[in-house]
Amino acid sequence: MKKRIVLYKRLSDQLMQRLQAHTEVTLVEAPAADGLARLRAALPGAHGLLGASLRLGDELLDLAPELEVVSSVSVGVDNYDIAELDRRGVLLTNTPDVLTETTADTGFALLLACARRVVELDGWIRDGHWRAGIGPAQFGCDVHGKTLGIVGMGRIGEALARRANAGFGMQVLYHTRQPRPEVEARYGARHRSLQALLAESDFVCLCVPLSAQTENLIGAPELALMKPSAILVNISRGRVLDEPAVLQALRERRIRGAGLDVFVQEPLPANSPLLQLDNLVVTPHIGSATEETREAMARCAVDNLLAALAGERPANLVNPQAWERRAG
Ligand code: DGY
Repeated sequence: MKKRIVLYKRLSDQLMQRLQAHTEVTLVEAPAADGLARLRAALPGAHGLLGASLRLGDELLDLAPELEVVSSVSVGVDNYDIAELDRRGVLLTNTPDVLTETTADTGFALLLACARRVVELDGWIRDGHWRAGIGPAQFGCDVHGKTLGIVGMGRIGEALARRANAGFGMQVLYHTRQPRPEVEARYGARHRSLQALLAESDFVCLCVPLSAQTENLIGAPELALMKPSAILVNISRGRVLDEPAVLQALRERRIRGAGLDVFVQEPLPANSPLLQLDNLVVTPHIGSATEETREAMARCAVDNLLAALAGERPANLVNPQAWERRAG
């Protein structure tokens, strides 16, 4: 008999057909909005779940006692209670690697947009202000040759370092718990304490996963260390920043600007005070959101799910403890 899976994300026809060939599929769309009741109804008897951006708490897990695997279409797994999945012997998989380059591109897009005021000046033209030449009031700041500080030097941090070093001739500083000599050799990057990195960098990009250690990593005291000319970019998770502190620093122009792809509350409410700022560029959590990369992520998630349901160890297993529990 085919195993039963619940999808809480629509996949391409090709991937859907692949799943249907091996499993019995129930598709529940928009569970975070109005689809929660449909998700609850689909969970009893489900062996696998596949989707993204859903907080899977005890209440939902209790409804799925047969669950073997949760296949997340994301690299970040901060919305799962991993200890609880371990306890239940439920495997959790994610989709690293395939989104690394695209997410680093997003970091650079925000960095360049802030430095060269792309969004603001687009609005300035549309509002009919381009009547003569431009002057210092429209000038931005250079990116090439400056110093980029990368907080977190995982795969995405490294992809940013490569772009900064090879493409923009930037000096790269990075902060991690342990120095990474191979990254230093490849990109001329130099390890710094968080405080020193913030003080020395012209651009600071946050690339750490969200955890108890990184929540509110950058608040008022850290922002106060940054140069008044510096630009902050966040492509990790909203809660890594103390958002009210960033709002205040931008309002008071204690830093030059910020580019944020992620927020404490997503979707960002239309009345968020952040949206009043002219020195902030926002994007709706698009780090990995290209056609090619989202399809590659979905394919990776399908591979992980089917491997787990076939009793094989999936390539991107987040919680080996659950695998050992199942094996034992
Ligand atoms: C990820 O893969 O974690 C991206 O941030 C999308 O959630």
